[in-house]
Amino acid sequence: MAGSRRLVMRLLSGCGWVRGSDSALLSRLRDEAVVHPRFLTQEEEDTLTRELEPQLRRRRYEYDHWDAAIHGFRETEKSCWSDASQAILQRVQVAAFGPDQTLLSPVHVLDLEHWGYIKPHVDSVKFCGSTIAGLSLLSPSVMKLVHMQEPEQWLELLLEPGSLYILRGSARYDFSHEILRDEESFFGAHRVPRGRRISVICRSLPEGMGPGRPEEPPTAC
Ligand code: OGA
Ligand code: MN
Repeated sequence: MAGSRRLVMRLLSGCGWVRGSDSALLSRLRDEAVVHPRFLTQEEEDTLTRELEPQLRRRRYEYDHWDAAIHGFRETEKSCWSDASQAILQRVQVAAFGPDQTLLSPVHVLDLEHWGYIKPHVDSVKFCGSTIAGLSLLSPSVMKLVHMQEPEQWLELLLEPGSLYILRGSARYDFSHEILRDEESFFGAHRVPRGRRISVICRSLPEGMGPGRPEEPPTAC
């Protein structure tokens, strides 16, 4: 890991990983917008990155689609994981989802290039249930949540490489989320320089829907 990145994170450690417009909001969303800063070990982060790279490298980064929420990205859906990665995803499932929640399969993998970013949006309720959980790899980034009706209510999540974020309930439905572009990538007053970032995103199925594709073979390969 680059020394400068460690330094940024040390400087920030006093501020925690979630900032917000006011303390009442922070406390209301304490269990709905959650960051686990060192969820992955360096070895686990490397395992996931190594496994994802060949699949991602086959794709081109996409730009400039007029209504796209994401700019400067390539993505894939992955259902077939090594045992080591499956064990990591299992830990995500336990940390983020309840026993009654079924996960959308396959897992969404998003690769944002250095200048890539995600504009404010709410994940479609057609495809995603009440919980979104994402692992961040390679670069730190800032995720901003803004209340759809009361934009003065906002949160900032500092997503270090190896961290896990969880959005559920009101944070998932009532707030838009975005990943800030490099020029705007600040956590409060602290600059969080963006580089290429990969995220591995698990989502619950919309409530009332059965398992995604039950006929599919087990995910080990
Ligand atoms: C998305 C999204 C966040 C991330 O793909 O809908 O919000 O962590 N991704 O990449
Ligand atoms: Mn989203």
